Amino acid sequence: MLAEHMEELSTLRARLDAAGQGHVLRHWDELDDAGRARLADQLAALDLSLLQRLAAEYVVRRPDAALPTQIEPVETYPQQPAPGDVTRTAMYRDARARGLALLHEGKVGAFLVAGGQGTRLGYDGPKGEFPVTPIKRHPLFRVFAEQLRAWGRDARRAIPWYIMTSDANDAATRAYFAANAHFGVDPGDVYFFQQGMMPAFGSDGRLLLAGKDSLALSPDGHGGSLRALAKSGALADMRRRGIEHLSYFQVDNPLVHCIDPLFLGLHDLTGSEMSSKMIPKAGPLEKVGNFVRGDGVLQVIEYSDLPESLARQTDAAGALRFNAGSIAIHALRTAFIERLTADGELRLPWHRADKKVPFVDETGRSVEPTAPNAVKLEQFIFDAIPLASNAIVVDTDRAEEFSPVKNAEGVDSPATCLRDQIRRAARWLGEAAVEVPRQPDGEPDAVLEISPLFAPTAEHVRARGVPMTAVQPGGVLFLGPDGPEHADISG
Ligand code: UTP
Repeated sequence: MLAEHMEELSTLRARLDAAGQGHVLRHWDELDDAGRARLADQLAALDLSLLQRLAAEYVVRRPDAALPTQIEPVETYPQQPAPGDVTRTAMYRDARARGLALLHEGKVGAFLVAGGQGTRLGYDGPKGEFPVTPIKRHPLFRVFAEQLRAWGRDARRAIPWYIMTSDANDAATRAYFAANAHFGVDPGDVYFFQQGMMPAFGSDGRLLLAGKDSLALSPDGHGGSLRALAKSGALADMRRRGIEHLSYFQVDNPLVHCIDPLFLGLHDLTGSEMSSKMIPKAGPLEKVGNFVRGDGVLQVIEYSDLPESLARQTDAAGALRFNAGSIAIHALRTAFIERLTADGELRLPWHRADKKVPFVDETGRSVEPTAPNAVKLEQFIFDAIPLASNAIVVDTDRAEEFSPVKNAEGVDSPATCLRDQIRRAARWLGEAAVEVPRQPDGEPDAVLEISPLFAPTAEHVRARGVPMTAVQPGGVLFLGPDGPEHADISG
């Protein structure tokens, strides 16, 4: 080995020893050059003093959930103004117009976070490839791409699309887009970038090795997206293009309105730096974050941290007091993200998850743990809300906008998502005066799919017009870009 490399190695070893992490070089002498380079690169990317602090704060002891003293429900913007509320009716009209103007002026970018590992679904590949629609089996990525194309068509201006991947799925995601001609989106308007990775810790705070030449790394959470936007150059790209707002959504929910002019307009007109959508919770203990006002500040408290006594509280009318569930749909000002990341450090808290992480032990043997042996740390996007000025929350309907594919079976699975897509399509058609046959249990008696290129909203369905008798009992109807197709179910 060259003298300068010896020098680098001894400096690295000293730094690791000082941080209590010297063991990661334990198998160094057995590694070939490629292995050494790999491990050295991974180690060079670590901020050892940060890791030392995080290990002390979150790993070797279990951090207490620091709850605010005063927890109150949030006030939200309703989906529609109450009848007779003249002020709000005017505000909503202005907001919708403002949202459309922002799109037309090119001030909105779409932001998809797709860096997660999707372990619960167990799909082999990036989750966005998952075939999700009821008839055409279009993948999640295509559903979003078609929505953006539809809104771009209306705005007469393409909507730039920022897609966050991670080290584990970046190459596969890019290849999939390339193989599918970017689903009709101009590749010049798609900006891929990778999020950061975080090493897994053993319960003693020491980093785990996935192999003799590699750390056990995993993506640093969707909150890491804010840091990654800055680091990757995506924020600079937005500045160049004049983008002022990002419409944030996650990869697993095909019902999401990737673009919502009313939401964007309310966000802009209220001067909100970060806005969120909420749905009424399905029950007091539903596993979604809760929007609350904590010591006066709008924030999300995770379901696991909200005291059960509060979660079950009802108001005089018997409704849940803490009813605002978070569905990870946000609008963010790019200036806010710039502010949060200005000094290169993103000051969001970390969240601990105890996981099973395979590792090599001190003898070099691979161990496949049968119980959680490791701590992973992630940052969450909703922790940016308390840092935002004028943050607002806007109501939406679960049936309209939330049915994620999280699990292989049961709740939030491909089966429930398929059902919910068909139900929504039936509702949109019903609102456009199309007769939708029903089964005895009230479910639509047809398989229905509406391409976003036909109509990204119920309003668009009404505007396009569909024959009243388009849906046959037991039939299969696909509304494609050019109109109704009575399709076979493929695949
Ligand atoms: P989830 O919380 O469902 O996590 O992510 P996941 O990793 O995809 O799935 P599991 O928990 O392993 O089953 C919600 C959204 O946040 C993104 C995901 O891609 C998904 O769009 N995400 C999550 C990231 O982009 N990066 C992360 O580090 C974590």
